[in-house]
Amino acid sequence: MELAIDVQNLNKRFGDKHVVRDLSLRVRTGEIFGFLGPNGSGKTTSIRMLCGLLTPDSGSGRCLGYDVLTQSGEIKRQVGYMTQKFSLWDDLTIAENLEFVARMFGMSGRREAVDRALDDLGLAGRRNQLAGTLSGGWKQRLALAACLLHRPRLLLLDEPTAGVDPKARRDFWEEIHRLSAAGITILVSTHYMDEAERCHRLAYLSYGSLLAAGTADEVIAAQQLATWELSGPGLTGLGAELRRLPGVEQVASFGALLHVSGADVATLQPELERFCHAHGLALERVGSTLEDVFIRLMQHSPDPFQEAS
Ligand SMILES: Nc1ncnc2c1ncn2[C@@H]1O[C@H](COP(=O)(O)OP(=O)(O)OP(=O)(O)O)[C@@H](O)[C@H]1O
Ligand SMILES: [Mg+2]
Repeated sequence: MELAIDVQNLNKRFGDKHVVRDLSLRVRTGEIFGFLGPNGSGKTTSIRMLCGLLTPDSGSGRCLGYDVLTQSGEIKRQVGYMTQKFSLWDDLTIAENLEFVARMFGMSGRREAVDRALDDLGLAGRRNQLAGTLSGGWKQRLALAACLLHRPRLLLLDEPTAGVDPKARRDFWEEIHRLSAAGITILVSTHYMDEAERCHRLAYLSYGSLLAAGTADEVIAAQQLATWELSGPGLTGLGAELRRLPGVEQVASFGALLHVSGADVATLQPELERFCHAHGLALERVGSTLEDVFIRLMQHSPDPFQEAS
């Protein structure tokens, strides 16, 4: 199995803040690897260490076969990095944006590369339009095309679809899957659960520590979280009472239904059966979702303000 990323025990501190803790990560060549975790959990910092923009304080490993501590120049040349929030220069035209990026990479055959990218995107006829006039979805597709101009082997995408509508997000993900099928490795951070499910494998980071990794099914199974669906009349208003039952860890509303989750099945199941019987509600065991599991991981993470760093 060929690994595009293989790092062990990477650490990064900013002042006395320990932002990435002993991060070990293996990403296979050609796979789409999702990077999940709450705000401030260290996703962007980890990505910047992987692409050679930030030197880890300690740890070791390789990205595309190059040493992350000593060969950052080689890594940078073969990685496409779409940074969080920034995507394009609004006051340059579509073509100028691509030309600028091609120039930054010192590419030869810039004109051909830009023309090819515009053709692939179907934007050749709009090359002189200001990028700022594009819709959010098109901006992100153009930014992705800019990251691909120098034909990188690894793409690092930091929340590439934040604020983009569902149809444009789906198109963006179809493109990511096409790239993966062509052998390009993709590490993508996201807060969207549907996107996490579209990854081949994923990792969940909290306060700089990797708490779970694997396929979506493996990550869900590892938490051993059980979930029940409650339905019936008068459910609204029962949430607070349910939260107080022994064994209940989460209560979440889905339209007219409630989902209740907890890891202690032996305690929770009889409590819920009693509760539903008393209130005339139907009870059904359902599968836990990635969202249920991530919320649990978040709730069980140590408070960074209590830590001794
Ligand atoms: N250059 C820096 N100097 C000091 N602190 C930093 C620096 N960069 C990041 N941090 C801090 O490190 C922590 C992790 O930040 P990071 O941006 O990696 O998180 P993230 O998981 O990408 O969050 P988000 O989901 O909000 O993008 C945060 O507490 C942040 O304030
Ligand atoms: Mg970030």
